[in-house]
Amino acid sequence: MTADAPAAIVDLAALGEDFTRNPYPVYAKLREAGPVHRIRMPEGSDAWLVVGYEAGRALLADPRLSKEWRNASPALGVAQVSSGRTMLSSDPPLHARLRGLVTREFTPRRIEQLAPRIQEMTDGLLDAMLAAAPGGRADLVESLAFPLPMGVICELLGVPFLDRASFRDLSNVAISSTDPEERAAAAKAMPAYLSQLLASKREQPGDDLMSALITASDEEGDRLSGEELLGMAWLLLVAGHETTVNLISNGVLALLTHPDQLAALRADVGLIDQAVEEMLRYEGPVETPTYRFTTEPLDIGGTVIPGGGELVLVALSDANRDPARYQDPDRFDIRRTDARSHLSFGHGIHYCLGAPLARLEARIAIRSLLERCPDLSLEIDPAAVSWRTGMLIRGPHALPVSW
Ligand code: HEM
Repeated sequence: MTADAPAAIVDLAALGEDFTRNPYPVYAKLREAGPVHRIRMPEGSDAWLVVGYEAGRALLADPRLSKEWRNASPALGVAQVSSGRTMLSSDPPLHARLRGLVTREFTPRRIEQLAPRIQEMTDGLLDAMLAAAPGGRADLVESLAFPLPMGVICELLGVPFLDRASFRDLSNVAISSTDPEERAAAAKAMPAYLSQLLASKREQPGDDLMSALITASDEEGDRLSGEELLGMAWLLLVAGHETTVNLISNGVLALLTHPDQLAALRADVGLIDQAVEEMLRYEGPVETPTYRFTTEPLDIGGTVIPGGGELVLVALSDANRDPARYQDPDRFDIRRTDARSHLSFGHGIHYCLGAPLARLEARIAIRSLLERCPDLSLEIDPAAVSWRTGMLIRGPHALPVSW
């Protein structure tokens, strides 16, 4: 909003499926007009959207934006979907405390130790996929992209195998549904499920992270409260699978729709690390990250976002396609050397805790898939892929492939 004219609302909801299918040109057009826009989200609420790499990166680390829901203006009409108290919905100093209690579990060195088990799980899933479909067709989301990250995070936390399908449904609805009532119902059902699970871990601790967190304390003897434990379990489970599933699906889709890049990766599997970074940049799983609220007015390139709890979204998908940062940004090129600077894992104090795990899972899954399926191809017109709705997560509902 400039001093004398209220900003016009860009109604992204009105763009319907076109925006869900391909949001990039819409973001690019906004970026050409400036870094800040007033938008109506497909989820129904109004927000401020920040586009472009520099503005987005700066805002992700701006302490004048709060992650705490108590700072949200009541007029926003948005509801919190997370359960309990989480690091992702906390500002310093609470944020550092919550993050500090689990950081050591997610260091690259610690995560690298999971590689043999992740490989074993991947091999098992690919064995099952190939055996179930000798004619050579499957939905890759169902066969690999979903069950791998879900299996890994559930095993890490100690979630019983039988509960996983219902947890997935609840989580999907809470994160991606554009129906506020449906979202609210799912958001309520999750804490009930997790409280039960935590109670059973208290009674019968296992050799898993959730059991460890119940008794975990830092050097000062500080421990997680009940609300914080619930939040931690919720965040790790949801963040641990809602995103990586789409890194694998989006990454494979990008390869299958760019045969030259697929051939280059097959010819030199050593490119896999770089290829995964380019997949994260080109079609990252998080389109706009979690909500931030203004605590004071922010002047961004001459546009003032008022203080008082306004909702601000950063378009990560657009930052990663900004021509001011990446040459020929709409081209998928696994040999790009600067892809790793993408914002797909966020930036600043909330930078993704699970980035080493997500990268490891994607490398193993995609490399193994290409090795086991030398003739892998897409069984659907790329234009007919059905994408998840909402502005948070970007990924296909299903990915029919053949081999
Ligand atoms: C490709 C997969 C993933 C992507 C693209 C991704 C993306 C992100 C992004 C963008 C943020 C920052 C959100 C914001 O600032 O609003 C974030 C935070 C976080 N992610 Fe991930 N994530 C992925 C996988 C994972 C995994 C596997 C885990 C867990 C094991 C995880 C755990 C977390 C946690 C705990 C936070 C909050 C960190 C904090 O507030 O300090 N993520 N992630």
